[in-house]
Amino acid sequence: MSPRKPVAAAGDEDPSAARHPLVAPSESIEDQIITVTLRPAGFEHYVGQQQVVENLKISIEAASRRGEPLDHILLHGPPGLGKTTLANIIAREMAATFHQVSGPTLERPGDLVGILTNLERGDVLFVDEIHRLSHVVEEFLYPAMEDFAIDFMVDRGAYAKTIKINLKHFTLIGATTRAGLLTAPLRERFGIVHHLDYYTPEDLQRIVRHSASVLGVTIGDDGAAEIAARARGTPRIANRLLRRVRDYAQVKAHGAIDRDVAAAALQLEGIDLLGLDALDRAFLRALVVQYGGGPVGIGALAASVNEEEDTLTDVVEPFLIQIGFLQRTAGGRRATSKAKAHLGLSASEQPRLL
Ligand SMILES: Nc1ncnc2c1ncn2[C@@H]1O[C@H](COP(=O)(O)OP(=O)(O)O)[C@@H](O)[C@H]1O
Ligand SMILES: [Mg+2]
Repeated sequence: MSPRKPVAAAGDEDPSAARHPLVAPSESIEDQIITVTLRPAGFEHYVGQQQVVENLKISIEAASRRGEPLDHILLHGPPGLGKTTLANIIAREMAATFHQVSGPTLERPGDLVGILTNLERGDVLFVDEIHRLSHVVEEFLYPAMEDFAIDFMVDRGAYAKTIKINLKHFTLIGATTRAGLLTAPLRERFGIVHHLDYYTPEDLQRIVRHSASVLGVTIGDDGAAEIAARARGTPRIANRLLRRVRDYAQVKAHGAIDRDVAAAALQLEGIDLLGLDALDRAFLRALVVQYGGGPVGIGALAASVNEEEDTLTDVVEPFLIQIGFLQRTAGGRRATSKAKAHLGLSASEQPRLL
């Protein structure tokens, strides 16, 4: 794990990684407002992830009928796939108040006491990046999740004493890009666990079209398809690319987005035909050229591309694995022949380059 960094409370993004736009977007205030504007408020506008949505609707309906709060829910999957959005929708469906905290900002149990004791019955406490909670905070959460009570230490030394505080029956929704990093005791305290997967180009196209209409952008089906095809299966990227293409279209094409305009704008952004960006390509190039296609450890790759390991494992690798460019083996990371072909290097060329 990389060292923790201070972050703004209730951050929506993973603060661990410094530069990748998916993880720490260099979005202007205007762009951030747009991100929130584009966030679907209800299931009716939440595109794709049918199975997860279906299951959640049943859980919500069942809990509502019993008049009970929802079970704790864990949502995991790569960044930008709609975990925060889904947590908001769940709270809305349950007519519950939504409270948000971010794992790395909670250093001591004391940071959580005020929030927990103020939760009303049925409230949703959304803990983003729950895999980055400190151990003490995590252990402090166990009884809160299980028994709706906390043991809070007051004073220190000889005067130290523990007081037990009862909590209302709340719902914790945890989000993580790395379910594998959760400890077993924490994982076991979630009654409902769902994985979000990359979106199909068709789903992304719907998202782009919807976002364009919200933003008042004129876009053709072919333009939306072009953006969707290059969005790395990720709604947040689709929306970001749409905004970049919109800027380009305003300057170069009287504001209307068709396939050619989208393609030209995205090429200018350094997004290739598969949606890979500069970091994805740098990663592949290091793996293929510098390390002969692997196997190589993630630490060496991180050093080669001068990026944090977490960003590579959370953002870069899952998509490359998904499109069949990368394999994680016991010996390390390996590039597939597909990846080599995409880079335009034949297998026999690899070892001698650089
Ligand atoms: N299923 C979806 N349908 C439509 N838009 C979505 C969907 N999922 C995500 N988005 C869009 O992508 C953006 C990022 O989603 P977010 O919930 O913040 O992702 P995560 O929390 O998983 O990183 C949201 O602002 C929203 O506009
Ligand atoms: Mg989020």
